Amino acid sequence: MEAKEIQNVSCVGAGVIGYSWALYFALKKLTVSIYDISSEALNLAKDRVEESLNSLILNQVVTSLEKDEILSRIHYTLSIEEAVKDAQFIVEAVPEDYEIKRNLIKEIEKYTSNDTIIASSTSGLLITEIAKDAMYPERFIGGHPYNPPHLIPLVEITKGEKTTDEVVKTAKEFYTLIGKEPVVLQKEALGFICNRIQMALYREVCDLIMRGVCTIEDADKAVTYGPGLRWGIMGPSLVFQLGGGEHGIAGLLQHLHPSIDLWLQDMADFKSIPMEFAKIAQEGVNEEIKNRPQEIGNNNESLREYRDKMLIELLKLHHKL
Ligand SMILES: NC(=O)c1ccc[n+]([C@@H]2O[C@H](COP(=O)([O-])OP(=O)(O)OC[C@H]3O[C@@H](n4cnc5c(N)ncnc54)[C@H](O)[C@@H]3O)[C@@H](O)[C@H]2O)c1
Repeated sequence: MEAKEIQNVSCVGAGVIGYSWALYFALKKLTVSIYDISSEALNLAKDRVEESLNSLILNQVVTSLEKDEILSRIHYTLSIEEAVKDAQFIVEAVPEDYEIKRNLIKEIEKYTSNDTIIASSTSGLLITEIAKDAMYPERFIGGHPYNPPHLIPLVEITKGEKTTDEVVKTAKEFYTLIGKEPVVLQKEALGFICNRIQMALYREVCDLIMRGVCTIEDADKAVTYGPGLRWGIMGPSLVFQLGGGEHGIAGLLQHLHPSIDLWLQDMADFKSIPMEFAKIAQEGVNEEIKNRPQEIGNNNESLREYRDKMLIELLKLHHKL
């Protein structure tokens, strides 16, 4: 199957990630079936699709005239057979649990042809392990999106031991055709690329708070108005390339080596986030939210609206919308 032949897509699991993938596919003029075991989840997905689409209209990404047509491309169903039987590409977006994902793949395989690509949204489980009991593991990949998938372009593609290169190539072409920015991992790694990077950063946030160096609010402010601004434009290695002036990143790493070594020796290297940190983090975030002016979001709903509005502006600057 060639990537450009993919017209029917299925999202299995209609939660935070499933609904957003479904909306993205519909925006890209594909037909989507979205399935969940729970009718409440399916109803919530319908509301979320409508809400996110309204936000895209408000931010002039699509027009209100296009709304009904986009919505008409999404079919909601409680039947897995109906959801997957005509799909050429299936997105799995059920909870992050090997057993749930493995059982679901067995169900999906009952109703699909053996060359339908199945892409797991897993945040970092091993694809080989998820596909362990699959009848056709060669067509199974990781297609890890970033939340919300209808806005963030990145998809991390991972191969399992039995995934064919052909399937990876088709998936990469497909994601590219619909405007995503896929990166392919050269070997399996728990947490993939970005969740490892995110957690390395967050381990340090946690340690700084636990040591009393700064508050949650100041750590967020430091990232948002410091390196976060640059990371929204280019990756950390390119940022360091510029930081090294005419000597580039190699010069920067050589120049700062003794100093960086001192920091690294002092930095966190724990293998598990301390349990008591969850409560401390939540209290810090509550305080931070309380201090924010309403126009940049001061509750979960307005924060989400603000995030989406800013993401859309940034994506426009990147010519991604
Ligand atoms: N939330 C994120 O930020 C994020 C980002 C990237 C990837 N992911 C990954 O995406 C996947 C889904 O996460 P989520 O945040 O959407 O979770 P979620 O809890 O919001 O949604 C999961 C949905 O799956 C449904 N479900 C459970 N068992 C099912 C089954 N057997 N068949 C069909 N539906 C079933 C649930 O009813 C629920 O609606 C996970 O693997 C997660 O790690 C999440």
